[in-house]
Amino acid sequence: MAILVLGGAGYIGSHTVYELIEAGRDVVVADNLFTGFKAAVHPKARFYQLDIRDRGALDTLFQAEKIDGVIHFAASSQVGESMSDPLKYYDNNLYGTMVLLQAMVAHGVNKIVFSSTAATYGEPERVPILETDKTVPTNCYGNTKLSMEQMMSWVSQAHGLKYVALRYFNACGAHPSGKIGEAHDPETHLIPIILQVANGTRKQISVFGDDYPTKDGTCVRDYIHVTDLAQAHILALDYLLNGGDNNVFNLGNGVGFTVKEVIDVARSVTGHPIPAVVSPRRAGDPAQLIASSEKAVNVLGWKPQYNDLNTIIETAWKWHSTHPHGYEEV
Ligand code: UFG
Repeated sequence: MAILVLGGAGYIGSHTVYELIEAGRDVVVADNLFTGFKAAVHPKARFYQLDIRDRGALDTLFQAEKIDGVIHFAASSQVGESMSDPLKYYDNNLYGTMVLLQAMVAHGVNKIVFSSTAATYGEPERVPILETDKTVPTNCYGNTKLSMEQMMSWVSQAHGLKYVALRYFNACGAHPSGKIGEAHDPETHLIPIILQVANGTRKQISVFGDDYPTKDGTCVRDYIHVTDLAQAHILALDYLLNGGDNNVFNLGNGVGFTVKEVIDVARSVTGHPIPAVVSPRRAGDPAQLIASSEKAVNVLGWKPQYNDLNTIIETAWKWHSTHPHGYEEV
């Protein structure tokens, strides 16, 4: 009996596979390697290179493997790109999930944990954000993730599927061993970009806006370590395997840091001056996103281990200082 991790060569997927294998689970990884890296896949996982929109490939996998439950990370996840190329997001995220659920129903696999996002909330009315707060996405990416949640709900009613949606806030950090870490092309996320300045692959960081209604004028985010996210997926899967019902959980630390504060912590961790220049706001950035993760703590027994930004950035730096070009060999 195995756990199928779709998108297991990506950033959060690969870290979850490492934690599953560490916990002694039998793991099958499927990934189309469009944005993931084969080198990120744990050597003990059985790997299938496939696209979730390929029903035939999914059928072959479900016939070859005895799957207990699915963890689904396979999606496009860049907010900016989702605005310029929305149909890519409907195709990969919504159509892909539809084909996946068709295959799961056909093969009698009925438990799924999947990546949702804080972007389902849009501009929050208050922080910390609760799972019951209004969901009004302000970008296409968040909209496809919310629609995926809704698709799961209807399929659950019709076919008895059980799902958990995990709404991540700002995923960051790297495996403490430094073997795997964050690598996107292009990179758009704050912490990797800051650390690319420190490792010499970029000259400076642009701070997108310093006129927000926050303590220093820069945006506030809730940074949560990727290993803590990985643990939450395992807890959510076990919750479903033990008979838990459909559910939605926020995953964050419940503490906000401004962009300037993150840069300052990175300066102290790396010892590099990290030049920063203020530039215009980035379209669609909410001023503040902070999670209430009380529900994940109470229902799943989730206990984030990395609640200190210094330690989080130290793990990210271990990866970025030793892999200046990510998984690409230069
Ligand atoms: N930022 C900069 N300069 C940069 C990059 C980012 O100032 O070069 C700022 C952004 O404006 C934002 C903060 O740093 O205020 C964090 O930005 P990220 O791009 O790292 O993360 P986001 O908060 O925009 O996005 C994250 C996830 C998305 C998810 C979103 C939910 O990466 O997948 O949270 O709102 F959709």
